[in-house]
Amino acid sequence: MEKSNKNYIIAIDGCAATGKSVLAKGIAQKLNILYIDTGAMYRAAGVYFLEKGLELTEENIKRNIDSIDIRLAYEDNMTKVFLNNKDVTDKIRTSKASMAASDVSKFLPVREKLVELQRKMAENSNVVLEGRDIGTVVFPNATLKIFLSATADIRAIRRQRDLAKKGEIKDIDIIREELLKRDLQDSTRKESPLRKAEDAIEIDTTSLTNDETVDMVIELLKERVELS
Ligand code: DC
Repeated sequence: MEKSNKNYIIAIDGCAATGKSVLAKGIAQKLNILYIDTGAMYRAAGVYFLEKGLELTEENIKRNIDSIDIRLAYEDNMTKVFLNNKDVTDKIRTSKASMAASDVSKFLPVREKLVELQRKMAENSNVVLEGRDIGTVVFPNATLKIFLSATADIRAIRRQRDLAKKGEIKDIDIIREELLKRDLQDSTRKESPLRKAEDAIEIDTTSLTNDETVDMVIELLKERVELS
């Protein structure tokens, strides 16, 4: 494989709670590159409608889309998420916000707005992005495309742990059910459904540690780009 000297883009897609965020963060830290959590952006859009108590209809989306400003900022080694200049970093991580994100992400005007922002943010940098449509729609020419998978059981355990850390205690069966419902909704929607790009490399993270997955992806990247 011929190696490139240009900026590189790593696209990480996959179902909910397959380990996309820890992987993307780990890669960004090791390579000292930009990390873009696109799910956080859809979550912030979902929280906008939740907070306004607005039903998700085409009409309400059209009427509100220009009033939604979403910004990711990098402070103290973490990604902070701002919705209309208000810090919603914690608020977007609840179960309610997860479903709201999936619900709002079905609408084309929302996707168009966020995809444009994602492409702008990634301009002229080496970058790792994680989401559902990065390898298929946002960056179909990404340098390296990874598609993560893991069993529903391990995903539910991981998500239960994440929620508990944030003070939300929830039954594992309900978590599993919600994850599967969201995956179904994300993969069957009309606009940019979640799917593996043809040229993506699938990694099953069920029995891998975070470090193992990060190292595996960096090895794959080294086959494609000259890392300094
Ligand atoms: O990755 P996450 O769980 O934070 O994503 C929340 C929701 O946002 C997900 O269920 C679907 C939507 N999403 C999307 O449609 N496209 C993306 N690139 C990222 C997330």
